[in-house]
Amino acid sequence: MAMSRPRPDNLTLRRAVRDHRAVLQQALRAHQADDLDTAERLYREVLELHAAQPDALHYLGVLCHQRGRSDEAVELIRTALKITPRHPDAHNNLGNIHKECDRPAEAEACYRRALECSAGHHNALGNLAVVLEVQSRLDEAFEAYGSLLQQAPDDARGHYLMGLFLRSHAQHMEHLEQAAECFGRAFELDPRNLRALEALGVTLYALQRRDEARGVYRDWLAREPDNPVPRHMLAACGGAEAPPRAADDYVRELFDGFADSFDEQLLKNLDYRAPQVLVEALAERLDAPAAALDVLDAGCGTGLCAPLLRPYARHLAGVDLSGGMVEKARARGGYDVLEVAELTGYLQARRAAWHLVVSADTLVYFGQLQEALVATYGALRPGGWLGFTLEALDEEADRVELTPSGRYRHTRRYVERVVAAAGFDDVRITTDTLRREAGQAVAGWVVMAQRPGPVTPVGDGDAA
Ligand SMILES: C[S@@+](CC[C@H](N)C(=O)[O-])C[C@H]1O[C@@H](n2cnc3c(N)ncnc32)[C@H](O)[C@@H]1O
Repeated sequence: MAMSRPRPDNLTLRRAVRDHRAVLQQALRAHQADDLDTAERLYREVLELHAAQPDALHYLGVLCHQRGRSDEAVELIRTALKITPRHPDAHNNLGNIHKECDRPAEAEACYRRALECSAGHHNALGNLAVVLEVQSRLDEAFEAYGSLLQQAPDDARGHYLMGLFLRSHAQHMEHLEQAAECFGRAFELDPRNLRALEALGVTLYALQRRDEARGVYRDWLAREPDNPVPRHMLAACGGAEAPPRAADDYVRELFDGFADSFDEQLLKNLDYRAPQVLVEALAERLDAPAAALDVLDAGCGTGLCAPLLRPYARHLAGVDLSGGMVEKARARGGYDVLEVAELTGYLQARRAAWHLVVSADTLVYFGQLQEALVATYGALRPGGWLGFTLEALDEEADRVELTPSGRYRHTRRYVERVVAAAGFDDVRITTDTLRREAGQAVAGWVVMAQRPGPVTPVGDGDAA
């Protein structure tokens, strides 16, 4: 005989509603405090009490995306939007997920829906401008940034984004002047936005206003003597001695703060090509991909190289100093293992572990390369390959320079000398454009080199 479930009386229903609200508040607090395990458990508890609770669906979706389960995230937020279709924040967050999953057209549609629901949603308008820029629709993007600043003249993020847009697409000095103004205003409005201050220093230097650039970093350093960013950038402007490589705390500070917008910034503004260029160089030297190699992505960042390296790899490891970047790489997927560590020490601790070590746009944070190259040599198996990119200092001399961007440039002669001194063979250095900066192409070296010795048959040795 089929049993009918008892119907809850009114009191039980009221209690359940009250309970789920309290649990939802706890979940939101845990989520804000970055305690994702607790938040996820509590959101699910809410949904057990009230399966169609739209906020729990929405924020559980956001959380799933943070944990790299973006398909599930999209489904949850879509379900929330079926229940509350005019929820601008949910449309905006769904747009952010599409944006971060490289689906700018879908993201654009979501931001437009958010703006239909709430025309004054500044966050959605800024995001719309960004995805228009990603899609190279520069006039529309400029108009959207302009509307944002008109609607919200005190929106620090709007000034910062406009500054980045003007600097990236600068066609003449006036655009750089305007970009500097935007960065200055962004910092004035939000003194926590130190990226705006750094961008101001870099732009002033590009405008040849070098004393002002050094002044920005000196003032900043005076206020925050322990902050590694102004320390490094002052050296980059010639205001202090350059370190042999960017200090660990500088790299962490820079990239942890950059992690959320890294892919977007690189892909939209800078025509960033280091991963592609490097993998094209690999294809010329290596056998056709057969998913047979143990591969290390050294300085993996947000994992842009992973899909390009995967066809070569039976085991793909990624290492990076920035926990924020590694978190993004984890969410993107594609690696068998990811670690947060300093590259040189990490390599020194692993002998003959890899058939291939690839480093895209990472050794640009190293001035002196010897130590890292010797460590890589030791970490490769005999016959293994190293591929990396550097920014090119186009001079005959044998030297390295820390530039006002905060990255180093190396001459070809320097690279040839240190790669050979580390023991590598069969070195090939080609030139290519790696990115654009302030409207200019940045030329780079693409270096391939082999550790001599008989190639270890696949299957031998320890996997990394
Ligand atoms: C410009 S990003 C490039 C990321 C990635 N390879 C790509 O092409 O998208 C440079 C990365 O190098 C990392 N990095 C810089 N110095 C490092 C070091 N000494 N050890 C480990 N990672 C480092 C940074 O944290 C950052 O994620």
